[in-house]
Amino acid sequence: MNPATGEAVATIAQGTAEEYKSCRAAMDAAKKDWADMPAPKRGEIVRQISNAIREKIEPLGKIIALEMGKIAPEGIGEVQEIVDMCDMAVGLSRGINGQVIPSEREGHTILEQWNPLGHVAVISAFNFPMAVLGWNMALSMICGNCTIWKGAPSTSLCSVALTKVIVDVLKKNDIHPGVFVLCQGDADVGELITSDPGIPLVSFTGSSKVGRRVSEVVHGRFGRTILECSGNAAVVVMPSANLDLALRAVLFGSVGTAGQRCTTSRRLLVHETVYDEFVTKLAGSYKSVPAGNPLEEGTLLGPVHCERAVKEYEAAIKEATEEGGKVLVGGKRMDRPGYYVEPTIVEMPSCTSESMKEETFVPLLYVAKVGSLDEAIAANNSVKQGLSCALFSTDMREVFKWVGPSGSDCGLVNVNAGSSGAEIGGAFGGEKETGGGRESGSNAWQQYMRRSTCTINFTDELPLAQGIKFGGE
Ligand code: UN1
Repeated sequence: MNPATGEAVATIAQGTAEEYKSCRAAMDAAKKDWADMPAPKRGEIVRQISNAIREKIEPLGKIIALEMGKIAPEGIGEVQEIVDMCDMAVGLSRGINGQVIPSEREGHTILEQWNPLGHVAVISAFNFPMAVLGWNMALSMICGNCTIWKGAPSTSLCSVALTKVIVDVLKKNDIHPGVFVLCQGDADVGELITSDPGIPLVSFTGSSKVGRRVSEVVHGRFGRTILECSGNAAVVVMPSANLDLALRAVLFGSVGTAGQRCTTSRRLLVHETVYDEFVTKLAGSYKSVPAGNPLEEGTLLGPVHCERAVKEYEAAIKEATEEGGKVLVGGKRMDRPGYYVEPTIVEMPSCTSESMKEETFVPLLYVAKVGSLDEAIAANNSVKQGLSCALFSTDMREVFKWVGPSGSDCGLVNVNAGSSGAEIGGAFGGEKETGGGRESGSNAWQQYMRRSTCTINFTDELPLAQGIKFGGE
């Protein structure tokens, strides 16, 4: 569907149980050769994938805009994120190294060897219908795994388009097609993946509700997960902040992607001394955000993804007002075809009001006053989710408190930068009901491999660890 019009753009067959089986058979057949290929050679394949995606960055970005509904510059930015990720993975293919550890036994060496897991599954969500695959695929590939992907059913065109670019590169290099397969489908394909004992790692992006189910099933069979579930980012604005900068960051963080990032700014907590000034200015800037077709230049606000999101938006506003919230700007569905809603600010009576505790995937920002940084930190940490957050302050005491042990409990803890729009170089993910997984940069690659700790004796003696004597001399 095109969310900007509510009309169908394509009909795409969804995978069946039979097709899942044939995908898996292809992966099994590809596994050994791919795992045995030297990692830098696999990196070369990822380098070519990166280049192929680079060449098609605009059409791919526009398919995202068409089918998901985000504006084209954000769609293109999303594809750029895959290119960045692939480029990093190419370098990493020469750096997925373990340690050499001193042994307590003479003539012995302990070393760590990182080996492929075998198969990795990626289940991604509609809101980043390509980038999330990119984060996982690039690492999974250089680590020597075969990867199976299930994208969200409502962004099937995105899945098909990106897969075509990837498999073309595999074909050109004579790589077995089982190295990367797509099994597009609904929850039934998801269940086949999560319950499959042949898939040691499932990387899932989506709601905490579905994430909990994935976690139970995969951990029930001793598989591993990378869970990237619901967020509920708070942005804290303190008196010493550069308010103009904070304003731009909050606007992008809350209205960007029509509020459909898991890093979207959802709770704005402003110190009482700057509250009126900041919130009045922000409400003013909300009114001038140009809404329109995501593919047209100049549009900053596209539709939300589907009719259900419009209903959730209306229900969330109703719930907030029933709890004493006051709509400062927006609050209604727009009078136009497709799934457009007004970007909305609701002023809440308290920084820990109940309505602020659930993640609603729409451009709805709750604002509330705080009297101190401690109060803001407590409110930030009071929700079940723990993905992203941001503090605006130039007081270094506040900055270090915010990032330290008694500060924010999130996985992404920003200062004077918005809650969304993370770079791929850092590990991406969050705590609590966000799921605890980490994707993309830093040492996230280690999750896609198994570590073998290898003790190697290069003598003809057999000393035992801990000095144990067991018979003999
Ligand atoms: C997501 O919403 O699932 O940090 C991912 C960001 C993007 C990724 C968001 N780089 O907002």
